[in-house]
Amino acid sequence: MYQTLLTELQDGIFTITINRPDKMNALNKDVIADLGKAMDEVYNNAEIKTAIITGAGEKAFVAGADISEFTSLRGDGGADLARLGQSKVFDKIENSPKPVVAAVNGFALGGGCELAMSCHFRLASENAKFGQPEVNLGLIPGYGGTQRLTQLIGKGKSMELMMTGDMIGADDAKSLGLVNYVVPQAELLPKVKELLQKIQSKAPLAITKVISCVNEAAKSDPNGFENEIKRFGECFDTEDAKEGTGAFLEKRKPVFKGK
Ligand code: COA
Repeated sequence: MYQTLLTELQDGIFTITINRPDKMNALNKDVIADLGKAMDEVYNNAEIKTAIITGAGEKAFVAGADISEFTSLRGDGGADLARLGQSKVFDKIENSPKPVVAAVNGFALGGGCELAMSCHFRLASENAKFGQPEVNLGLIPGYGGTQRLTQLIGKGKSMELMMTGDMIGADDAKSLGLVNYVVPQAELLPKVKELLQKIQSKAPLAITKVISCVNEAAKSDPNGFENEIKRFGECFDTEDAKEGTGAFLEKRKPVFKGK
């Protein structure tokens, strides 16, 4: 049913595993389409009570959007990519009436960090690393990262991480409030499942209302997301984005010119 995901439903918990480990589970068009379908399943299948999103393998949760799909994009295409992803996947996760938790089992970079942040909360394995390295490519986050990172960890640290492109480890992510627990990798899924079992024992309609109310409290101006989509698209009309994405794929350091 899914080209790029493994799914399993056990005891009401639907585990969605992004399965492109040789490409660090990067989010290409197929993964975005599959995640959209999987979220429809979460919404519509009464047997699913809660969901987990995780990555295959031991290295990566998701190392970002698939950079190889960026090389032919121009402004409009960039904005369309961001808008489609946000509406089909990221907003759907955030607004899901059933709890969706990220089990961050390794690199959560760019779109991967954004995917984790669209979940209701996050647990990480000790080797997890978080970051928004888009500036290294001449880009900015486009799947809601400028908004959700700022909501989760505040303006100053969010600015620093998005300007430097630096990665932070799981313990720093925990102290910033980006993740709730850090556990050894082998204990990650069992710990998430234990929490979800507890949540499943509570009144489901009340849980849905918690999600709705907490989302409302954290809501930024919807124009923040729209502004991000527009600015993300604009990046693709710059020479620096061509240089940055080209340099990544050619495995060399980019030279940016501010053009
Ligand atoms: N898009 C497309 N391909 C990606 C990718 C991405 N976001 N992230 C990793 N890959 C691919 C690599 O190109 C490589 O492919 P290859 O084996 O065909 O050459 C493969 O995944 C393994 O990655 P590699 O870079 O060799 O692993 P590493 O352990 O040296 O480094 C990372 C891991 C995550 C630090 C590094 O892959 C990275 O920086 N990825 C990009 C992160 C990023 O900028 N994300 C934001 C995108 S908007």
